[in-house]
Amino acid sequence: MSEAAARALEGRVAIVTGGSKGLGLAMAKGFARAGAAIVVASRKLEACEGAVREIEALGGRALAVGCHVGDWAQCDALIEQAWQAFGRIDVLVNNAGIAPVAPRLLDVTEALFDKTIGVNLKGPLRLAARAAERMGAGSTILNISSVASVRPNSFTAVYAAAKAGLNVLTSVMAQEFAPKGIRANAIVCGTFWTDSFRAGVPSEDAAEMAARGNVLRRIADPEEIVGTALYLVSDASSYTTGQLIQVDGGVLP
Ligand SMILES: NC(=O)c1ccc[n+]([C@@H]2O[C@H](COP(=O)([O-])OP(=O)(O)OC[C@H]3O[C@@H](n4cnc5c(N)ncnc54)[C@H](OP(=O)(O)O)[C@@H]3O)[C@@H](O)[C@H]2O)c1
Repeated sequence: MSEAAARALEGRVAIVTGGSKGLGLAMAKGFARAGAAIVVASRKLEACEGAVREIEALGGRALAVGCHVGDWAQCDALIEQAWQAFGRIDVLVNNAGIAPVAPRLLDVTEALFDKTIGVNLKGPLRLAARAAERMGAGSTILNISSVASVRPNSFTAVYAAAKAGLNVLTSVMAQEFAPKGIRANAIVCGTFWTDSFRAGVPSEDAAEMAARGNVLRRIADPEEIVGTALYLVSDASSYTTGQLIQVDGGVLP
C-alpha cells in the first residue's frame, strides 16, 4: 500500500457510535491509523475513554462522548460536541447496535421493540440528518447493517426489521445528500467475534453452526471489517453511494 493510501483519512474527523468495543473500536482504531481524529461515542463514557487511550497509544487524536443514540437530544449533543472539539465532521459511522432475542413475535415486548428500533434505526436517522448539516463535499456516512436484514428469522425479528430499515435509510441518505457531495453506504455484516455475538450464542456448537453458514467456514475477527469500512469512508470509493456491501465470508443461500 502506498503511503498516501495508508493515510487516506489524514486531517479528517470521524464519529464512530458504539466505538468503545467490538466492530466500532476496530474501525475507530483503523481510521485513526489512517490519519483521522476520532469521536468515540457510546452510552458508557468510561468505556469510550478507554478507547480514546488506545487510539492515543497509536499516536492518534480522539474524544470520548457519552451518548445513548436512541435519544435524539443526545444525538444532537454528540454532533455539537464533535463540531466544537474539531471544527469539522467528515465521517459518521452508525455502528452502535443491539440484537435482543425473542423466540416468537408474541414474546416481543413493547420495551424490547422500542429499544431495538431506537438504537438501530431511530438514532442513525437523526445522527445522519444532523451530521450532514455540518459535513462538506467528500464526506461519508457508513451504516453498519446485518445479514439478518436480508435473511431474517423469528429470533431476531425486530433487530432484522430495524436493520432492513437502516438499509432503506442508506439509500435515502445517498439520494438526499448527494447534491452536497456526501456519500452514504452500508456494510451488511455476517458473523464477527464480538461481545454481542458471544452473548447471543448459547454454545460452542451454535458458534460452529454459524461458522458453517458461510463459504469461508469461519467467524470473522473484528479487524476484518476495517478494510471495507476504510474503503467506503475514504475517497477510494468516490463513485460508490447508496450501496449495501456484504462482508459475511460468503453467506450460503
Ligand atoms: N458481531 C456480529 O456478528 C454482528 C453481526 C451483524 C451486525 N453487527 C452489527 O455491528 C454493530 C456492532 O456490533 P458489535 O458486535 O461490535 O457489538 P458490541 O461488541 O456489543 O458493541 C456494541 C457497541 O454499541 C454500543 N451501544 C450499545 N447500545 C448503545 C446505545 N443505545 N447508544 C450508544 N451506543 C450503544 C456499546 O457501548 P455501550 O454499552 O457503552 O453503549 C458498544 O460500544 C452493531 O450495529 C451490530 O448490529 C454485528
